[in-house]
Amino acid sequence: LDNGVARTPPMGWMSWQRFRCLTDCNLYPDECISDRLFRRTADLMVSEGYLDAGYEYLIIDDCWLEKERDENGRLQPDHIRFPYGIKNLSDYIHAKGLKFGMYEDYGTFTCAGYPGILGHLEVDANTFAEWGVDYIKIDGCYANVEDYEAGYTEFGMYLNRTGRPIVYSCSWPAYLESSGTYANYAYLSEICNLWRNWGDIQDSYGSMSKITDWFGKNQDRLIPYAGPGHWNDPDMLLIGNYGLSLEQSKTQMALWAILAAPLLMSVDLGAIGSEEKTILLNRDIIAINQDALGIQGRLIKTVANIQIWSRPIMPIVNGTHSYAVAYYSKRDDGHPYAITTTLSDVGLSHQSGYLVTNLFEPVLQEPQSLKISEDFIVRVKPSGVVFFKFTPIP
Ligand code: DGJ
Repeated sequence: LDNGVARTPPMGWMSWQRFRCLTDCNLYPDECISDRLFRRTADLMVSEGYLDAGYEYLIIDDCWLEKERDENGRLQPDHIRFPYGIKNLSDYIHAKGLKFGMYEDYGTFTCAGYPGILGHLEVDANTFAEWGVDYIKIDGCYANVEDYEAGYTEFGMYLNRTGRPIVYSCSWPAYLESSGTYANYAYLSEICNLWRNWGDIQDSYGSMSKITDWFGKNQDRLIPYAGPGHWNDPDMLLIGNYGLSLEQSKTQMALWAILAAPLLMSVDLGAIGSEEKTILLNRDIIAINQDALGIQGRLIKTVANIQIWSRPIMPIVNGTHSYAVAYYSKRDDGHPYAITTTLSDVGLSHQSGYLVTNLFEPVLQEPQSLKISEDFIVRVKPSGVVFFKFTPIP
């Protein structure tokens, strides 16, 4: 969607994966979907350096609404959990230098059973703009599959008419693709800034791994439609929660960078471990995710059950791209396994060779220079990744 926003994949924080639909603030005072959770997260995004690293959108997912619209037919937040209203919270978030995102659903209800936007598209678009919303995720529960295309288009038109630049995230392909129907990505890329392609991520390596398998399998259909203003979305980052080991966390960060995926954390920023935080704040990897060319990378080959993923990036030297290349072990035989490839094996053909940076160990290792026919030995830990940047030598 050419609306001036999401020129690189959006970065931020979204409540769903970690905080779900916890609404009992007596039982879960620090975790319930509430004004307090979002102010606390806004403070931490700034004080802990996430905003400086590029994570700018703070996005409320499902379960923020009152079960009924107000007397004027407008959406209203739960009055107990959001006692100061949404505009007041939005002002707080903006005053911190962050941007503000919200969630709704195209159907009659949100997935968790709160009022959806169907029948109220125009008034709701206006309400979001009045509240200072900068990012809206529109889910696809309780709707007819045949209505998605026209419905999301119409809501996008009302958003556009508000005059406020709002990142428009569309979940409808997830509902089609999960039941085996191909989505029309050419059309989606014209009306949405990003779209959830497939099922929800859960806090486990198995879930993450199924998603990357799906993205690898379907890459030829997806890659052409990623670019500035329009992105495929494999769902939130799990990093810092319960389901991924440290190696698996590095894997998610590397593959989401290769996939030009939105980087949406979903973690308690007050409780995250320092090593996980370091992964999320890795500037070199964020730079690859945010590369200005906006080309989505691909799985290029699998050698001894080690997948090699590659993405063309800047700088272009003598007409040749630089590349980010991730070696990702799908092996389950339990030790750091070494494979030998040459750069030409992984599609790097610049005759004078490449300068290599190991992106998870940049300060421990000087960039190395490599000829394209030289053996290149990479040891990859189980379900882990080794992630390189290759820059052509002039
Ligand atoms: C389904 C979406 O895919 C999730 O990301 C989340 O928004 C939930 N719905 C909320 O109900």
